[in-house]
Amino acid sequence: MERTGLVITVASQKGGAGKTTVATGLAAAWRAEGLKVIIVDADPQDTASSWAAKSPEGQGVDVVSVEQGRLLIRQVPKLAAEYDRVIIDTPPRLGAEQRGAVLVADAVVIPTCCGGFEGDALGPTLDYVETIAASHPGVPPRILLVLNKMSRTLLCDALRADVAETETTVLKTEIPQRVRIPEAQSAGQTVLDYDPKDPAAKTFVRLAQEVESHAFTISPENHDSETEADGHAA
Ligand SMILES: Nc1ncnc2c1ncn2[C@@H]1O[C@H](COP(=O)(O)OP(=O)(O)OP(=O)(O)O)[C@@H](O)[C@H]1O
Ligand SMILES: [Mg+2]
Repeated sequence: MERTGLVITVASQKGGAGKTTVATGLAAAWRAEGLKVIIVDADPQDTASSWAAKSPEGQGVDVVSVEQGRLLIRQVPKLAAEYDRVIIDTPPRLGAEQRGAVLVADAVVIPTCCGGFEGDALGPTLDYVETIAASHPGVPPRILLVLNKMSRTLLCDALRADVAETETTVLKTEIPQRVRIPEAQSAGQTVLDYDPKDPAAKTFVRLAQEVESHAFTISPENHDSETEADGHAA
């Protein structure tokens, strides 16, 4: 099967870290470039699916629900043959869905805040994703951290220094806390359509560019490794 599309998994054990916000924001940014985009909703909360159901017509992003790790490993490569971008939105836990979603990804994007309880929750997510990535039979996905709801603080600098020692990259693009983001979501939209002039809209465009610049560094051999990865699914 010819595989053309990039697969981006959004993951974090922490509830409310911004996974679905990042998944839908990336989808909107790539769709605006004219790319064919699908969100794979691996979260039983169905947040992305409910968002799409609320969408005014013409949103242009498909959403499909796939809630098992094994099914993700089987189905995502087929979707990647059909779509330019496949974005997997995962639930706030570390289990079989995350394992499958990490194994099929070109890049794993982990949204996080810098300090306090959210910063504490990052360690287990990074350990889990890095361990699964290291067990990948082909080329492992890039692991990309995106700071959410943050302006620059000392806690962010400390986090950057910690992560500099690991396989994980902290993206330059940071997502600001903007009320337009939840307002848009309540209307079944993203901030890109709802208020294109809001700084958050430009942020998602930059984020999409930065994520693909990392994901595209993956060699094409990775795109043949899904059948091997199948045997490794939880
Ligand atoms: N940068 C931001 N500015 C303002 N609000 C935000 C921002 N990022 C996320 N939110 C809001 O925070 C809430 C949680 O975000 P989101 O649903 O994306 O997190 P999640 O990680 O997908 O949650 P869950 O773990 O339950 O799936 C949402 O109401 C969302 O609108
Ligand atoms: Mg979510």
